[in-house]
Amino acid sequence: PEFDLAIRGGTVVTASDTVRADVGVRGGRIVAVAEGIADAARVIDASGLLVLPGGIDSHVHIAQDSGPGIVMADDFASATRAAAAGGNTCVMPFALQPRGASLRGAVDAYRARAEGQCHVDVAIHMIISDPTEAVLGQELPALVADGYTSFKVFMTYDDLVLNDRQLLDVFHVARRQGARVMVHAEGYDAIRYLSERLERAGETRPYGHALSRPEIVEREAAHRAISHAELIDLPIVIVHVSGREATEQIAWAQGRGLKIRAETCPQYLTLTAEDMKGLGQDDPMAGSKYVCSPPTRDVESQEAVWSGIRRGIFDVVSSDHCPFRYDDPQGKLNPRGKTSFRWIPNGIPGIETRLPVFFSEGVSKGRISLNQFAALTATNHAKLYGLYPRKGSIAPGFDADLTLWDPNRRETIRQEILHHGSDYTPWEGFEVTGWPVMTIAGGQVIAEDGRVLSEPGRGRVLDRAVDPAERREA
Ligand code: URP
Ligand code: ZN
Ligand code: ZN
Ligand code: ZN
Repeated sequence: PEFDLAIRGGTVVTASDTVRADVGVRGGRIVAVAEGIADAARVIDASGLLVLPGGIDSHVHIAQDSGPGIVMADDFASATRAAAAGGNTCVMPFALQPRGASLRGAVDAYRARAEGQCHVDVAIHMIISDPTEAVLGQELPALVADGYTSFKVFMTYDDLVLNDRQLLDVFHVARRQGARVMVHAEGYDAIRYLSERLERAGETRPYGHALSRPEIVEREAAHRAISHAELIDLPIVIVHVSGREATEQIAWAQGRGLKIRAETCPQYLTLTAEDMKGLGQDDPMAGSKYVCSPPTRDVESQEAVWSGIRRGIFDVVSSDHCPFRYDDPQGKLNPRGKTSFRWIPNGIPGIETRLPVFFSEGVSKGRISLNQFAALTATNHAKLYGLYPRKGSIAPGFDADLTLWDPNRRETIRQEILHHGSDYTPWEGFEVTGWPVMTIAGGQVIAEDGRVLSEPGRGRVLDRAVDPAERREA
């Protein structure tokens, strides 16, 4: 046969087009998008289904060291298994440089954790917590040249926070190397001040987390990051934008012609700070299941972020999957976490629910188009982080990474149907319309109807290259 695989009769959706077409695959790549492709070793009937670019989740935390006594709930096998079941074909986790340690050492050790374990392809970002002269002068440029072309910096957290001078120095090197910088924008000192005041006043409940990081704290840091980026003339990505205030800062910057890009996540579109109160539950710690940073806000802020999505202010919707088990002394219910919100590990699982939640609330409720969905969940991730034109669309030459999607299927999200390592989902009982029914990666069916069919090790760790035009002397 001419093709290894033909996907027939579906509606092919890309960031720019919606067309009735068949897709022909050979050697793991898409080789044809046309009518009447039949001469194939395997034919999959996609009638009534959408054929979407496989989901790319460019912000996930997997097997990342999380401080004394705390363990992340997913390793590479379980996280990428969940990703596959949820319609994803590529995820991008972070190799974290601990303070005082070599960045190269951290990256090499992290890559070794991933090799041979993954169901879907993985591309690794870095987290820089200690921008020493050796890191800025040698390690970082060499790592970018080796294919680690993106990294995240933090404006908060004791072990990660960079001061303004460090941010500027790191931005400078990124500009020269053409690296992509992601910024966690929340102001460290304001959070410390508020947290200590709340604790002194006896407000130690999980809900105290939301009170300790109000939108002002995120707005101020977003503005500061934007200003530093303007000073260096560096395009940055402000990640996990949670609400109205930070969205306004980004819209303002973009309106001035600054190259500020933005990411948001399904939690900021569907959950609120009230969830951290654990209302209606006897367990006083139940709200900790929703503790993430920045915290979720209110319905008004959800609408502001939706409006930003519709206006094109956001480039990507990622999960920020950062899973901890709830009922576990190494997770949300760690002994210190029960004494104060300050010690509840930050982060929620979402790698498997990102696409259905965002499709249902976005496409099925008429807030965004199918093409916007493809752009925000796949195409723009690939473009932003150096995976395009290998991944992120459906056209000859692209990897055969595809998700067959039933736009009419109704499901209720429940922990028992998920594949992640966490013991709960923040979307328990959430009803969605639209569901991934088959995930195809490199031309191979890796998940079908909630069953993962691939072996760990099928997915590869990808190297990337910078666009030479992005390398500019600073
Ligand atoms: O609470 C969160 N989001 N934890 C993950 C780390 C981060 O800042 O993205
Ligand atoms: Zn972050
Ligand atoms: Zn994150
Ligand atoms: Zn320079």
